[in-house]
Amino acid sequence: MALTITDERARPLRDLRISVTDRCNFRCTYCMPKEVFGRDFHFLPLAQILTFEEIARLARIFVSLGVEKIRITGGEPLVRREIERLVAMLAAIPGLRDLTLTTNGSLLAQKAAALRSAGLTRITVSLDSLDDTVFRAMNDVDFPVARVLAGIDAAAAAGLEPVKINVVVKRGVNEHTIADMVRHFRGTSHIIRFIEYMDVGATNGWRLDDVVPAAEILRLISAAVPLVAVQPNYPGEVARRYGFADGPGEIGIIASVTQPFCGDCTRARLSSDGSLYTCLFANRGHDVRALLRAGRPDDEIAAFLTRMWKARADRYSEIRSEATLGDRKVEMSHIGG
Ligand code: GTP
Ligand code: 5AD
Ligand code: SF4
Ligand code: SF4
Repeated sequence: MALTITDERARPLRDLRISVTDRCNFRCTYCMPKEVFGRDFHFLPLAQILTFEEIARLARIFVSLGVEKIRITGGEPLVRREIERLVAMLAAIPGLRDLTLTTNGSLLAQKAAALRSAGLTRITVSLDSLDDTVFRAMNDVDFPVARVLAGIDAAAAAGLEPVKINVVVKRGVNEHTIADMVRHFRGTSHIIRFIEYMDVGATNGWRLDDVVPAAEILRLISAAVPLVAVQPNYPGEVARRYGFADGPGEIGIIASVTQPFCGDCTRARLSSDGSLYTCLFANRGHDVRALLRAGRPDDEIAAFLTRMWKARADRYSEIRSEATLGDRKVEMSHIGG
């Protein structure tokens, strides 16, 4: 029986999201706008980034504290060299039930088979539209839809299933293309999820007017493909599930703005430079790398992580307001969403 440590709101520590790099080959306008993440942006120098050995050691400690699910994130995790070596190290940790990764899919066609043989079981691919013009504008590096679709196919062929597809919906940008995405992926084993555009970080110029609320997303899709609500797979599941009324298959909607889910949030986040963040919207992390590199033993690091989790009271999405919007928050590309 795994240990359970709970925070100030009685939420256990169960999930760990590990960012392996703050770099990405896309410049999605809602995440890494070019005006900020341009040529002279200072990404983390290699010496500050945790090695795979450091990450795997920390992951083992987290699992000993009750973590059952690990998601590898970035930036774009597949731009980190030999990422499959880290996957293999994490897959070997006893007690870990779910190991997955969120990617933009651009390098997936080359990497899918290696990730699968290293022990990854499933994967999530971000793809905001099937309309090539819309997608190229959203990733802002002119990356074509077809290459992401090739990555998704390669993932499914390698057995990384189910493939989940994340679509960030932004008002006036891609909402007219979402029903078509549902039609396209219906009949495959992939699960498509629509995400309300969030006010993460401090650079994307988020405005409430840019959010297409979950209720509207649901209406847009239902008008084309009738849906019925389905029970969550597990308590605290981020996406609300909807099945097709007239056949097998499902979609999900992630409504972090209009229907926050902080009450069940069991997620810790580790940045690539080794800081622990207890909320996606936190303005600062807790430096774990310093302990690792000072040669501190596992039990001391475990005690530090426990202390940080026990003190956790975050529920940003529930208390989001005009007042919190101006807060200095960590960038999505730094802690992986
Ligand atoms: P499954 O494990 O497949 O259920 O996926 P997931 O929903 O846990 O993870 P994924 O990385 O695909 O996240 C989907 C979207 O939900 C992303 O936009 C995340 O940033 C957002 N998200 C995930 N966890 C949280 C969270 O704790 N808080 C908020 N506000 N958003 C989150
Ligand atoms: N709002 C909602 N989702 C976002 N993502 C990145 N930035 C945002 C944002 N501002 C998504 C990515 C990826 C997931 C990890 O988070 O598209 O699918
Ligand atoms: Fe890169 Fe993902 Fe951010 Fe887009 S959303 S810029 S793919 S990290
Ligand atoms: Fe968890 Fe923070 Fe997201 Fe709420 S806003 S669900 S506390 S990460």
